[in-house]
Amino acid sequence: MLALANQKGGVGKTTTAINLSTALALKGCSVLVVDLDSQGNATTGFGLTRQEPSLATSYDLLCRTKELDACRKATAIPRLEIVPSSLDLVGAEVELAQQEDRFTRLKKALEQSDSRFDYVFIDCPPALGFLTLNALCAADAILVPLQCEFFALEGLSHLLKTIARVRTKLNPRLTIEGVLLTMYDQRNNLSEMIVEDARSHLGDKVYKTLIPRNVRLSEAPSHGKPAHLYDSQCAGNLAYEKLALEILTARTAKTS
Ligand SMILES: Nc1ncnc2c1ncn2[C@@H]1O[C@H](COP(=O)(O)OP(=O)(O)OP(=O)(O)O)[C@@H](O)[C@H]1O
Ligand SMILES: [Mg+2]
Repeated sequence: MLALANQKGGVGKTTTAINLSTALALKGCSVLVVDLDSQGNATTGFGLTRQEPSLATSYDLLCRTKELDACRKATAIPRLEIVPSSLDLVGAEVELAQQEDRFTRLKKALEQSDSRFDYVFIDCPPALGFLTLNALCAADAILVPLQCEFFALEGLSHLLKTIARVRTKLNPRLTIEGVLLTMYDQRNNLSEMIVEDARSHLGDKVYKTLIPRNVRLSEAPSHGKPAHLYDSQCAGNLAYEKLALEILTARTAKTS
């Protein structure tokens, strides 16, 4: 189970949740995406509308009013399901503030998912608050998208501190799965500098695959489609396919 987290907004968490999960599902994995952001971008990016009043959501999981099976929804991609987001997530922290288990609620709700899915991705909101902490408690590892821009590494030290704190207090298993450089622009020297900088600080935690800045990736969600269904040959989709392969190869190497 992987949390897609970075407190910085707009770095590619949701784009990665949508397109990496799609690529892994198309390679035969069974995948679940949990949309834990009240913005609901992963939900709408898969073409689900949030208007349906009966829709069971990740808020229901946190409140433990519904089981995972009642909250999973199919997507247009075979083997890929999503737990949609809800605007109610905005108030979840206040509502659950008195609960002693408030940080482990998602973990409990998703307990059975590890045996049923090859990959579970939790798309976190851009904050290190209650929702992201629930994700970091539930997850085995965190995948950090980092935008190739000047201040990219600055926020990372704060995130690393939070991970260390979560490890001592809430989830000793938590590791960093990898750091993904997004919106890479090969015509721009700055992008190249950020890549070198990230590699020298984080070593082999940085994925070899770079996600290029690609307008098709940003257009696809407005059509309610992952890039694979919008323009499968676009550079952005091909990069997410390559990333899926890199992740699968690393996992095989680890388990053999
Ligand atoms: N590789 C890319 N090329 C071009 N546009 C991209 C790329 N990745 C993401 N975008 C666009 O950048 C914006 C932010 O991306 P995204 O929503 O994935 O980030 P996020 O980290 O989930 O944001 P938030 O913190 O608000 O949840 C979106 O409009 C998205 O379509
Ligand atoms: Mg997002």
